[in-house]
Amino acid sequence: MEARARSDRPLVLVDAAIPDGPLTALDGLADVARFADAEELERLIAERGPRVRGLGVQLTTAVDEALLARLPALEIVADYAVGYDNVDLPAAARRGVAVTHTPDVLTDATADLTWALILAVARRLLEADRLARSGQWAGWHPRQLLGRELTGGTLAILGLGRIGEAVARRGRAFGMRVVYWSRSARPALERELEARRLELREALGVADVVSIHLPLTDETRHLLDAQRLAHMRSDAILVNTARGPIVDEEALADALEGGQLLGAGLDVHEREPDVHPRLAASPRTVLLPHVGSATVATRERMAEVVARNLRAVIGGEPPPDPVPGPG
Ligand code: GLV
Ligand code: GLV
Repeated sequence: MEARARSDRPLVLVDAAIPDGPLTALDGLADVARFADAEELERLIAERGPRVRGLGVQLTTAVDEALLARLPALEIVADYAVGYDNVDLPAAARRGVAVTHTPDVLTDATADLTWALILAVARRLLEADRLARSGQWAGWHPRQLLGRELTGGTLAILGLGRIGEAVARRGRAFGMRVVYWSRSARPALERELEARRLELREALGVADVVSIHLPLTDETRHLLDAQRLAHMRSDAILVNTARGPIVDEEALADALEGGQLLGAGLDVHEREPDVHPRLAASPRTVLLPHVGSATVATRERMAEVVARNLRAVIGGEPPPDPVPGPG
């Protein structure tokens, strides 16, 4: 009997890796089924697809036309990420399915990680760590592991959204000038940070550090290709904590090997979880396994955002955190 009553309630499928606690927001409103992997998701859809009203997914789950077609009652896809390139937005829009993401709550964590990469590349942290552990360190030396000074240099932000802004603010605290290339001008922020908006080529040409904070779209895929990388200074650092395919990794490996760039710090990769072998072999790179938002507090807050969006839409309200529209 209980089973019958429960089966009338909306069903929400949520990736099992998303923290539990916040999902209690759905208590009494919807049944929640968790899936640990693609196979379990597949089985849930095969058994209960027509009943599914909400979907909470990680950025590694592709939500495409084929998946949406099997969920005719779906009302919302709640992405556990700020970047939502894993969701086919036009297909969702055609079906009237809301798509939400987790902005704001991960901004500081991601900006901190971006700065960890900038500093690690500039000051050769990985090489230094290896030497300190190697048993080969012969003691202080005036020319040992000389890095690159950042104070007084120029930081170019590609994409001045929330995360780009937070990285720029930290850059000011490090005594850097800020320039940016972005779809929208941010005049108030320009005044506050004494920042200048430049064309892409110009921003690349003046920067000591170039940091990418753009969404992945058809326009930004391979934005940093061989030609654009060639506009960067040979003593500059490229950092990417946004999405891997924005950088042409083959071209970046060539640029690093050819001495066209000082170094690169990458949290994201073109073909995750594969890491480009030439970038992995390079002493000029610091490579991380997509951990920009990976703090305990942020991952918990991201789950709260997923839960509040599922709750709103299943309860007939507009979602608080819809992905930005086109335009
Ligand atoms: C992580 O990459 C995110 O988009 O949240
Ligand atoms: C999204 O890209 C953001 O900066 O919040």
